[in-house]
Amino acid sequence: MRRWEFVGRTDELNRLLAAVTGEAGRGLFFSGSAGIGKSRLLREGVGELPTDRFAIWSIAASATTAALPFGGLVQVLPAEQPQGLSPAGVLRWALNLLQQQAAGRRIVLAIDDAHLLDPPSAALVHLVARAENATVVGTLRDGEQIPLPIRALWTDDLVEHVELDPMPQAETAGLLAAILGGPVDPGSADRLGRLSSGNPLLLRELVHAASSSAELKQTYGIWKWTGRLELAPNLTDLIDTRVGKLTDGVRAVVELVAFGEPLGLHLLKQAADQADVETAEERGLITVVPHDRRTNVRLAHPLYGEVMRRRCPVSRTRRLQARLAELLEQVGKRRRDDLLRVAVWRLDSGTAQDPALLLDAAVQAFTRYDVPLATRLARAALDADGGFDAAELLATILMFADRPDEAIDVLDAVTPEPGDERRLCRWLTVRGMVSYWGLSRESTVEEIASRVEQLSDSADRARVHAFEAIMRLHRLDTAAAVRLSQRVLDRPAAGVAARELARSTIAYVQAAQGELTRSGTAIAQVHSAAANWRTDMPYLQLALELARGTRLMLTGDLAGIDAIVADEFADLAGEGDFRLGTGYLAILQAYAARLRGQSDAAMRTSLSACAVLATSRVYAGLAQAERAQSAALRGDAAQAAAAMAEADRTHAPGMAVLYPWLEQARGASLAASGDLPGAVKHLGDLVDRLRSDGFAGHEVHVLHDLVRLDQAGMAVGPTCSDGGRRTVAQRLAELSERVDGVLPPLLARHARAAVTDSPTDLLAVADDYAALELTVYAAEATSQAVQRLRQQHSAAANDARERLAGLLGRCDLIRTPALQAGAPVLTEREWQVARLAAHGAPSRAIAERLYLSARTVENHLQRIYAKLGVTGRAELWAALRSIPGHEGSDGG
Ligand SMILES: Nc1ncnc2c1ncn2[C@@H]1O[C@H](COP(=O)(O)OP(=O)(O)OP(=O)(O)O)[C@@H](O)[C@H]1O
Ligand SMILES: [Mg+2]
Repeated sequence: MRRWEFVGRTDELNRLLAAVTGEAGRGLFFSGSAGIGKSRLLREGVGELPTDRFAIWSIAASATTAALPFGGLVQVLPAEQPQGLSPAGVLRWALNLLQQQAAGRRIVLAIDDAHLLDPPSAALVHLVARAENATVVGTLRDGEQIPLPIRALWTDDLVEHVELDPMPQAETAGLLAAILGGPVDPGSADRLGRLSSGNPLLLRELVHAASSSAELKQTYGIWKWTGRLELAPNLTDLIDTRVGKLTDGVRAVVELVAFGEPLGLHLLKQAADQADVETAEERGLITVVPHDRRTNVRLAHPLYGEVMRRRCPVSRTRRLQARLAELLEQVGKRRRDDLLRVAVWRLDSGTAQDPALLLDAAVQAFTRYDVPLATRLARAALDADGGFDAAELLATILMFADRPDEAIDVLDAVTPEPGDERRLCRWLTVRGMVSYWGLSRESTVEEIASRVEQLSDSADRARVHAFEAIMRLHRLDTAAAVRLSQRVLDRPAAGVAARELARSTIAYVQAAQGELTRSGTAIAQVHSAAANWRTDMPYLQLALELARGTRLMLTGDLAGIDAIVADEFADLAGEGDFRLGTGYLAILQAYAARLRGQSDAAMRTSLSACAVLATSRVYAGLAQAERAQSAALRGDAAQAAAAMAEADRTHAPGMAVLYPWLEQARGASLAASGDLPGAVKHLGDLVDRLRSDGFAGHEVHVLHDLVRLDQAGMAVGPTCSDGGRRTVAQRLAELSERVDGVLPPLLARHARAAVTDSPTDLLAVADDYAALELTVYAAEATSQAVQRLRQQHSAAANDARERLAGLLGRCDLIRTPALQAGAPVLTEREWQVARLAAHGAPSRAIAERLYLSARTVENHLQRIYAKLGVTGRAELWAALRSIPGHEGSDGG
């Protein structure tokens, strides 16, 4: 059956073209039921675009490609993908490639059945849509589950989303004529059109059924349908009947394509009779599409595949999949993707016996960050006697997916012989990692420390030592961690991975100690060597991320955090099952939002970090601490306390190195609950502890927390040689010379301004905070200035209040002790009066509105002015806005 001409749909077509060629270049997605004409419309629309202005890629996702990472984009990506890239790296590489090939033209990505995209492909599509010079258009079938990055296309406003309606009666008549290739009797057209309810595919199947039962006849050149109008037929039933009538040979062809599309024509011809392939094409069941030097066969419509696959009994399905694997193996796997396809067919058909193939495929799936598929393949490799290599890979994947118990079982089953040193080295490290972080067994450190003696090779020893070092770091044995890491770096025989792991450990310690510049250099070095360690030691990524994230948080570098969150496409990567990495990035993101005063986003993101990391023994406590901080920022003491309790419950002793974050959060939580003395005492003790641990990078932040609680003059630390103790302000001044970056001197200035009660200096500090987007700190310093100006009855109070209102206006709800302390307390009645007066209502109107006498209103106003330290109505508005929660219900 040839493809009949395109009928109608003029408005939709114009809309699609306008979406691509219009100024905004905002894309468009059509949704609609099966067979309604989405794919055809998309094809026609894209076909009209001039190729000199647009670089167009058309992609048809399908059920078979959905099973493979990047399966949906095989038609777009080159067969060979670079190795050793992070998930973000792969996405970035692919995007660059499209940009290159587009050579200055606008990129158009047309995705048919986008709901069937595999997660990495969906992420890439989203990324393309975000690019300046690209437009994404596509189709989605109603009622299907849609991958998040695709759904986000319209929630992020990157594309329009339009429901494609059934064809109007007039157009179905035209379509019918096109299908039959001649005019149709109006009565017949009308009845068939109604029967199909405007669905072109249904109409086509009806015509097909009618022709085979001789109900459609051409007399004097006019087609007439003599069938009876029965209940509206069901599309799948019709297809089912049609498929059921196929000869065995033709059915075999359609089946192979249903399980193997896109299938090379050369391959199909090996498995099926040439005549049957032709018949299937003639009947419009399959289509042959040239693609990149090979000819592919696809189903003419996805519904045929659905019906076919559903009809096919399990045993036959397996036979077909095994057959497909065999065919592809025979003709030779030409593309890297072929390897994955063969492996998945082998897996699904229960014929996976070749451990080398499965292991290869598992590595490939893992490098494409398809954790579930990689796990299946690695497990199959192990079951097929893949031995130690398979076990090591499987355990690593399980560890990344946060399933340590399974990982340890896998490793214990392949304990190496004592003489096998190379294996022993790898086994010790991977098992050590699972046992220490995954299972929180602290004794692991001693275990591997003692067994390293069994290794004679210097490189092997370095690898184990690098692991021992990072474990020691995490349990706060900092000096030993640095010593061991330094030894690894000094050893010429040490491999790249061992070396970079050691460097990450040192970079972390440097950050915590306030050597943020050197830490930054080390981190950049580990990062730039990534291609050389990623395959050998994928878990190094986590050590790198922790060092990098810690450094950025301590530096207060919010733009830096934005950059890595964007760089790693944190929101997109969340699609894969890469829990630890995504969870940690979410913590960073929440931290940046919190310091900016975006407390809604901070709350949301920290909650999602808690959810992602709920079962993780690695970062769960940290995520809960961040949630406690966000809640405290909003003045939600109950949630802050609950989050702290969760943090304590989930925090693993093996992650002791994270204690500064947890304890800082505890301070904020205490303060939010109104227990200021408790908070101050707690933070003071924390300062002492950090000082004795040498964590100056953290210490400055905790000292600043005390400044925020107006404790800049409080004594901290040990008694000095002069017999006295330092104040918070003095200690900050001291540390500002030792801790790198612009932040410590600023924190020290804040403390000094508070001690000397200088509103001018506090306001200057606030400006500098604001320039760093540390909006909460800026607002707090301003509030401290307002407080002092009010006490001094200064005329500058009003201006400062304006500034505070401006800063609070940039934030979501925030309610910290520093902001509350400066805020005057109004009664509910005073709030009502003040708010109306600030909106310009005259006293008389206020009086009427509140059923008071004008005189009472005046009295209220005088009291309000006194409390707020303003001279009259003109200043009232700014004064009210500078009170945190001024829009809250407590205002009445
Ligand atoms: N306007 C049209 N003119 C001519 N033929 C059409 C038109 N719209 C659809 N068709 C034909 O009808 C059949 C079904 O349409 P299409 O494949 O576009 O449906 P779909 O909405 O993509 O369905 P699915 O959700 O199952 O993918 C196809 O053979 C297509 O060529
Ligand atoms: Mg379609």
